[in-house]
Amino acid sequence: MTYFDQVTEAAAFLRERIRGNLGDQVPRIGIVLGSGLGAAADAIADPAIIPYAEIPHFPQSTVEGHSGRIVAGLLGGAPCVIMQGRVHFYEGYSPSQVTFPLRVLGALGLRAVVLTNAAGGIQDGYRIGQLVAVADHINLMGFNPLNGPNEPRFAFQPNAGLRFFDMTEAYSKRLRSLAKAAAEAEGFSLEEGVYLAVPGPSFETPAEIRAFRSLGATLVGMSTVPETIVARHMGLEVLGISCVTNLAAGLSAKLLSHQEVFEAGRQVEHRLARLLERLIPQIAAVLEPKP
Ligand code: HPA
Repeated sequence: MTYFDQVTEAAAFLRERIRGNLGDQVPRIGIVLGSGLGAAADAIADPAIIPYAEIPHFPQSTVEGHSGRIVAGLLGGAPCVIMQGRVHFYEGYSPSQVTFPLRVLGALGLRAVVLTNAAGGIQDGYRIGQLVAVADHINLMGFNPLNGPNEPRFAFQPNAGLRFFDMTEAYSKRLRSLAKAAAEAEGFSLEEGVYLAVPGPSFETPAEIRAFRSLGATLVGMSTVPETIVARHMGLEVLGISCVTNLAAGLSAKLLSHQEVFEAGRQVEHRLARLLERLIPQIAAVLEPKP
């Protein structure tokens, strides 16, 4: 069975389960919730809950703090599909396995994805627990998930599925504006940052962080970038939101630990959940109806 057929099979399975819950309301937005950031899924009343283990071909998360299930239903009144937990390259998954879930979201007919993550803050002035909208990224993961023959059938949206495609606006400006306005309404401001992706799992050295800062990065993390690349390949709009869970290596006296990252996530996940509950219906309103 080809990779594309596996994606199609997983999507068909999910579509059925989601239809059982949402009926004719077709979700147009997907959300991926990162480390310790799962609370937004709890804001869905009467959700359809589908553990990754039940979905054909779906990779299983092995990291503590990533619960590994899909939660579908209405968030702020808008139908959406939430991935509570993701898989990472550092877990030993291949680039195509890491991005399999995004391919499935694309096959479901989603138009936009909100990719959230825990990140180390590089820019001076970032505070722990701060949310930052990703305006651009730098891929230092050492791979591109589109390496290999192009699969044009991944053109789930118009003008997509191309071998070479533009990444000038990888992160949608209009979705970022909506996110900023929604944050203001929630009483906080959402700055913009540049997310630099590393493979992990070790945290960075202080010298690496100094190097990344001079490259223009303001955030560092171990996810999101492969997902953004495949989402753009399929023609989906992307909104990236990072939660600064720690100051990056060498920028504070504290040593880094997963525990710290996870706990900082837990402290901000409710603010992120409120932001998403306000934002998702506004995003749904600007996405075009299916042709
Ligand atoms: N570095 C890399 N990934 C991370 C960090 C960090 O400091 N914090 C959360 N994810």
